[in-house]
Amino acid sequence: MNHEDIKKLENEILESIAKATDSVHLENLRLKYLSRKGEITNLFEKLKDLGIEEKRKLGPVLNEFKNKITNSFDEVKDKLEHKITNNFFDYTRPGKKPELGSLLPNTIMEREISNAFSKLGFEIVEGPEVESEYYNFDALNIPAGHPARDLWDTFWLPKDLKLDDYSKLNPQKALGLLLRTHTSPNQMRYMEKNTPPIKIIVPGTCYRYEATDARHEFQFKQIEALMIDKNISLANFKYIMHEVVKQIFGKEIKTRFLPSYFPFVSPGLQMDISCFKCNGKNKNCDLCHGSGWLEVMGAGMVHKELYRHAGFADYDYQGFAFGLGIERFAMVKYGINDIRLFNSGDLRFTKQF
Ligand code: FA5
Repeated sequence: MNHEDIKKLENEILESIAKATDSVHLENLRLKYLSRKGEITNLFEKLKDLGIEEKRKLGPVLNEFKNKITNSFDEVKDKLEHKITNNFFDYTRPGKKPELGSLLPNTIMEREISNAFSKLGFEIVEGPEVESEYYNFDALNIPAGHPARDLWDTFWLPKDLKLDDYSKLNPQKALGLLLRTHTSPNQMRYMEKNTPPIKIIVPGTCYRYEATDARHEFQFKQIEALMIDKNISLANFKYIMHEVVKQIFGKEIKTRFLPSYFPFVSPGLQMDISCFKCNGKNKNCDLCHGSGWLEVMGAGMVHKELYRHAGFADYDYQGFAFGLGIERFAMVKYGINDIRLFNSGDLRFTKQF
């Protein structure tokens, strides 16, 4: 045994390992060379019979040779196994069940309310969430400086907003564009392009720059309704709401109408629904604050000034409009006592609906 013989054998073995086409073939080669009676083990046996000088010379060479062969076996074994798992598809294995998300209760409620209005002949219309100051305020009789603007403080955006500009936003200075505070801008958007009879609803997300609590979020959904014709009165509004509430809750729910003020209606009112949580019996109720009622919408008869803004040729129309809070309806229907749960992303909450 000399250095050259070992090198020759090494090349031979490496070549045959590289040619192995499957694991069985490879295992046979491993037994042939590396097992207890294998050829390489034999060489180590022969080393014992050599003189001390030769042992010193050939010992490290043999060790290096054995390591190379062992590594080569491991490498090829890995490759062959990988190849097998890659190519093999077991049709009988049970599949992986994809995680399904669920609709949020406010989305479910939005659809239910929209369906209820659809059945009553209302068309469903959409409007932009990034709104102009004109449609959100001015067109609704709320010019700059009007105290009613304070009711709807919002997130302002610069006029020529480009994506790169977001980092430079200065909400205090930027006027002109905003995240809509209500769905009411769509009253004017629709009236400008259509003439009565009008019978629409506009569902959508609204934003307000305000502190949150159990009843208030800075992002929430509303549904706007607008019905205009020659002889529409608050009686039509009351009847329609009565029908919708009956459809949504499946039973009679106590409602009440109170006078209210919105610059774009006259007269203005709000509709309340009885508090499901305490029924007015708990003075410290965090939902109704002991009043027994939850405000769910603002409404009223469309202000004549809006017909002028819209450019109607004749103002001899009457109509009502309202904006209802979708989360508030969902809270009453599902007994949700904190509005902040809707956007919490907590699956324990969202999976319940
Ligand atoms: C308005 O937004 C008016 N645009 C409604 C209107 C439309 C009046 C047409 C007349 C004619 P108000 O700010 O009251 O009004 O909001 C209407 C409803 O939206 C509320 O009754 C409430 O249900 C819901 N809402 C208002 N603010 C929030 C908030 N921060 N979080 C959750 N819901 C809200």
